Amino acid sequence: MTSIDQYIAAELIDPDPILAAAVRASEEAGLPPIAVSPAQGKLLHLLARLQGTRRILELGTLGGYSTIWLARALPADGKLVTLEASPRHAEVARANIDRAELAAKVEVIVGPAQETLPRLAAEGAGPFDLIFIDADKQSYPEYLERTLEMSRIGTLIIGDNVVRAGAILDPDGDDPKHPGEGIIQGVRRFYELLAEEPRVDATVIQTVGVKGHDGFALALVTS
Ligand code: SAH
Ligand code: DHB
Ligand code: MG
Repeated sequence: MTSIDQYIAAELIDPDPILAAAVRASEEAGLPPIAVSPAQGKLLHLLARLQGTRRILELGTLGGYSTIWLARALPADGKLVTLEASPRHAEVARANIDRAELAAKVEVIVGPAQETLPRLAAEGAGPFDLIFIDADKQSYPEYLERTLEMSRIGTLIIGDNVVRAGAILDPDGDDPKHPGEGIIQGVRRFYELLAEEPRVDATVIQTVGVKGHDGFALALVTS
């Protein structure tokens, strides 16, 4: 799977010194290597273009790799707001976003999204055209409810890491990389909400490749 993913990226994704520098700077700063893959980043970018996106909200910035892919889909007056709990991750991301010449379009807000999301909503932020949920997995149900309040009909909500190599199948299971954090239960509740919530139509597409076996949830806001 890894070599196929590498072949796909080599064929279809132009070498990109700015994204490569973002990955290198994130590594050098000791950030975990958990950004989306190049092919996934390009998928996010294409979905944002397909959406005609002018306003993007991201939860979970890390070093800004997915942020750069998404923000590059914006028109000149477009805006992306990205929420990151870790001040250190946010600092690395800001440097990467500056290097990508996207600072005018991208705002990195530091703090747990449990606090920054309600603040944004209270300020009347949104509606966003595309929302990428990629922060702490146990909070995905809460994030879905809150981001729905900042959506419009036609908003695309994307959730990363909703397969976890199949670990989501066991309701009593644990994510081997993050034991005791309730990640599996959070992600399973996220599926239930996607199914129950009358305002969205959703599916999940499994992803394989350099980041292992995982998946993206895609939810279209319909009312
Ligand atoms: N979207 C990034 C990867 C994000 S990794 C990319 O693909 O390039 C998940 C990020 O969520 C980490 O940086 C972590 O610090 C952050 N995070 C964890 N809990 C959070 C919370 N409660 N609020 C906001 N960010 C959080
Ligand atoms: C992991 C992967 C991710 O894409 C993410 O957002 C958080 C954690 C992981 O593999 O641990
Ligand atoms: Mg992720």
